[in-house]
Amino acid sequence: MNFCVFLSIFLLLFSLSNSSKTCKKLDTILQWDPKKCSTLENFLGTKRPIYIIYDVNPFEGFNLRRDVYIRWAVLTKHLQRIPLFRDVRLVLPPYPRLYHWKSSAFNQENLSWDMFFDLHSMKKFAPVFDFTEFLEEVDVFSPSKRLTVPIDKIFQLQHFEEMFENGVFIDKFEYHNCSRAEVSPGDFLQQTNIHGKDFVCLKFQGSASLLTNVLKKEIRSYNDPWPKVFFFLSGEIVLHDNWGNQEFWRARRSMRFSNDLMAIAKDFRLSRLNSTDETEKVNRPVDWRLEKETREAIGGDYVCAHLRRGDFVFGREKTIPSMKSAANQIKQVLKELGLKKVFIASDCSPFGMFF
Ligand SMILES: *[C@@H]1O[C@H](CO)[C@@H](O)[C@H](O)[C@H]1NC(C)=O
Ligand SMILES: *[C@@H]1O[C@H](CO)[C@@H](O)[C@H](O)[C@H]1NC(C)=O
Ligand SMILES: *[C@@H]1O[C@H](CO)[C@@H](O)[C@H](O)[C@H]1NC(C)=O
Repeated sequence: MNFCVFLSIFLLLFSLSNSSKTCKKLDTILQWDPKKCSTLENFLGTKRPIYIIYDVNPFEGFNLRRDVYIRWAVLTKHLQRIPLFRDVRLVLPPYPRLYHWKSSAFNQENLSWDMFFDLHSMKKFAPVFDFTEFLEEVDVFSPSKRLTVPIDKIFQLQHFEEMFENGVFIDKFEYHNCSRAEVSPGDFLQQTNIHGKDFVCLKFQGSASLLTNVLKKEIRSYNDPWPKVFFFLSGEIVLHDNWGNQEFWRARRSMRFSNDLMAIAKDFRLSRLNSTDETEKVNRPVDWRLEKETREAIGGDYVCAHLRRGDFVFGREKTIPSMKSAANQIKQVLKELGLKKVFIASDCSPFGMFF
């Protein structure tokens, strides 16, 4: 059954009867699973979830994505303090294959955040949901055989042509009608199971909290008790509220890497570099909220170098050292520090090291 038809029937029932009657009717009319129905009642209660999904230009790399996340997480945290948005949730965009991901031995498309980060730790900062968690949750309030998740409104964020007005950079936004042709290439997170018809372009200039005004306006235009899903394309257009303030660093610290990745790193450090958190004095409390300012770290007896030999080499020849010069610089540092071991992280090809 078409989801919109379903939704209107459901809303009608919702308003006409109390919820357990609704469950009964849904059960007979739509063969709604009664167990699911009571889950729905329990789930919704007095809640009115608002899901915010954002996406990032598919050509952006891992580090920028991490930075963009912080902008949206800080916004979500800010929204949560406003009664209208008490049940807001930030949905994390699955990773498309990034420029530096070149493995063919395993899947590098459509990866969830919990492969990289400790979601439990991030949730201690703001209500964030991995995309799969989002799908599971919306499944509670949608027909069991549904194949797509409807989005209430899709915003294509865009830059203003004119950043300055009379020489001054001011925060502003402006709705305008636009066709789907203007949508950025990786739209809809490369997902086939979400769709939406209400599509608008939003010229936007300013920090994340300016979006509060946009969202307030949206929420007020609906008067049903139903959860809402908003989707923002080109999330990187939104700027930080305050880069480097306390809230920024709290969000940043909450982004602990996943336990699996940490275990791999720990093994590697021990077997190749004879290094542990204890000897380097970089032990941290399990919960980032308990971290205290400290300057105890002494590090290990090795240096690390990040050698970019992929995209950076092209078009930046003047500022990127040759392999020989990079090797000499590393040798110099080793000499100054009286060390012999070096760990090199690089995107070079296996033969690149010799050129
Ligand atoms: C967009 O189009 C709709 C329908 O044609 C119109 O009602 C609305 O005012 C337009 N919005 C803008 C910002 O131009
Ligand atoms: C990506 O992952 C989601 C969640 O696991 C899944 O529902 C979806 O079908 C996948 N999409 C593609 C294009 O593989
Ligand atoms: C490894 O580190 C420990 C503690 O710092 C040290 O006692 C030991 O000699 C080191 N082993 C090697 C092979 O360097």
